[in-house]
Amino acid sequence: MKNPGYADVIPAIRALTEGETDEVALEATIACELYHRFERFDWVGFYRVVSPGLMKIGPYQGGHGCLVIPFERGVCGACATKRETVIVPDVDAFPGHIACASSTRSEIVLPVFDGAGELIAVLDIDSDTPDNFDETDKAELEAMLAEVFRRV
Ligand code: SME
Repeated sequence: MKNPGYADVIPAIRALTEGETDEVALEATIACELYHRFERFDWVGFYRVVSPGLMKIGPYQGGHGCLVIPFERGVCGACATKRETVIVPDVDAFPGHIACASSTRSEIVLPVFDGAGELIAVLDIDSDTPDNFDETDKAELEAMLAEVFRRV
């Protein structure tokens, strides 16, 4: 099983966030748990939708991330525009990839929707390992985000 961590991390996040409805508190907790649970996740963080077409950095773990991302730019902007998860096996092959760290080789970015179905953020996970993310990561992370943020 490639991702033994998911069998533990989802229940852990469920317990850590039980009853919480504050977006930033939930994001900070999830970023911390995912970053420390998965060695293959080298940056974990949220970019929050702060106005139409614009995101700003939220809670994250890892090296400094860029502060502002318009929907027109980067993997995060592509995810926010499409409102769908984007998996990038090779960041050097993604036109307009925003490199916050030169060591990043692959990336997954997932949309975060509130209980009303509004896009409120994206979850960005970078890896220094090429082609690090797959459909299991997508399914597990999407389900966790839906469960947690439907309370917001
Ligand atoms: N790589 C992202 C930017 C965020 S830094 O990786 C933390 C992108 O292309 O949108």
